[in-house]
Amino acid sequence: MIHASKILVIVGSTRAKRIGPQVAAWVAEVGGGCVPAQFEIVDLKDWPLPMDDEPGIPAGHPYVQSHTKAWSRKISEGGAVVFVTPQYNWGYPAPLKNAIDHLYKEWGGKPAMIVTYGGHGGGKCAAQLRQVLEAVHMAPVATMPALQLTREHIEANEGAIDPGLAFAGGLGALRQAFTELAAAIAITPPV
Ligand SMILES: Cc1cc2nc3c(=O)[nH]c(=O)nc-3n(C[C@H](O)[C@H](O)[C@H](O)COP(=O)(O)O)c2cc1C
Repeated sequence: MIHASKILVIVGSTRAKRIGPQVAAWVAEVGGGCVPAQFEIVDLKDWPLPMDDEPGIPAGHPYVQSHTKAWSRKISEGGAVVFVTPQYNWGYPAPLKNAIDHLYKEWGGKPAMIVTYGGHGGGKCAAQLRQVLEAVHMAPVATMPALQLTREHIEANEGAIDPGLAFAGGLGALRQAFTELAAAIAITPPV
């Protein structure tokens, strides 16, 4: 069932020592203050989809794998999707691409928001992800907050971070992006 008022916040990293869940929780918290919707964190670590294991092309063939069918149901629940992803070597993590590629029609028509983080904020991976989201017919909002990590944060490589403090400089862009997402949801008919 689709809940137009439910926003899925996808955690794009799955590393053992990742900070992704903390960043996503903070993004959802900020979003709750901007958009009157229910936010649900969808952690890709809880969705271990084997790499490209659908035998058919998801755009045109019925899904075979039970995990793909479950993933399809989960994404279908959302009226919009926020992607929270780190930048890895100028791109975004492979599990995120694999999770997108497992489906097709479920993404289509949904407003989307891209939030990246990294040493330089993650603008390069945001551009790549935006192109892929447009390929599956999502509607990403214009503002793509790029949250900047300090060298100390990256070198510590620890899963402990206070995003509210670390990313205070990105709060304005984050609120702006949520404002745009709220407007996009308001004009998007239920899928
Ligand atoms: C494989 C890998 C590649 C990375 N490449 C970049 C990069 O290109 N640009 C950048 O700003 N940070 C880069 N970093 C640093 C990450 O942005 C930083 O470690 C961040 O905490 C990763 O998110 P995560 O902890 O949720 O996995 C990289 C980290 C990893 C693990």
